[in-house]
Amino acid sequence: MSTRKPYVGGNWKMNLKQDSAGALARGVVDSCEPWQGSVDIAVFPALPYLLSVHSIIRSHATTIAVGSQDVYHEDDGAFTGEVSCAMVADCGCKSVLAGHSERRHVIGETNAQVNLKVRAAIEADLDVVLCVGETLEQREAGQTDTVNAQQVREGLAEVGQRQMDRVVIAYEPVWAIGTGKTATPEDAQDAHAKIRGLVGEIYNPDVAERVRIIYGGSVKPSNAASLFGQPDIDGGLIGGASLKVEDFAAIVRAAAEG
Ligand code: 13P
Repeated sequence: MSTRKPYVGGNWKMNLKQDSAGALARGVVDSCEPWQGSVDIAVFPALPYLLSVHSIIRSHATTIAVGSQDVYHEDDGAFTGEVSCAMVADCGCKSVLAGHSERRHVIGETNAQVNLKVRAAIEADLDVVLCVGETLEQREAGQTDTVNAQQVREGLAEVGQRQMDRVVIAYEPVWAIGTGKTATPEDAQDAHAKIRGLVGEIYNPDVAERVRIIYGGSVKPSNAASLFGQPDIDGGLIGGASLKVEDFAAIVRAAAEG
């Protein structure tokens, strides 16, 4: 791994309840304690548990951040069921995910909508993890690089160079999410290097060198070290394994040692 500080996020998705989310938060705080200075660690609980998870994390004087899995781009108003950046910030969030593949492919979010979320989050002083990645059909059709490039370009439209300090990019090939199939470290490295090159084209080499590009898709304790050992992989966005304290801690440790 490079000199960039590793980033590991736990995307809890639509899992857990108040008690189990609280127990997991306590477990993450305790078990990740040794690496909280060397790895940026964030957990992304379901919306109803943001406040309770944040209050547990805050009471432990840890640097672990709480983030929201999604936001709506408007500040307030008649948008039934949606939640604004200011609202999640008010619940203690420091970060949001934008464009997770389940939102793109299950809910139907477009690049334009993802871009609105990215910009709204930055305006609200939140960090944002922009998620990109190709489907299996796109991969088999040789479209991996063009799909990633389009999602990165359109997701970052009108995001200024200085605002890029707020952005982490997560490469999550859709076919690897929740399937147990992981991109090989070499394939993931290739995609990451291309995304970094593109960030260099859109901005400049300095922004490209600084931006964290993390990998998601069936990361486990058994494969984390080989993924994080690649020069352009700066950590991970973890789904299933983030629900098990020991697995998440082992992945954070691999990032710290990467
Ligand atoms: P899994 O780790 O369960 O494959 O999920 C990855 C993911 O979608 C993280 O956002």
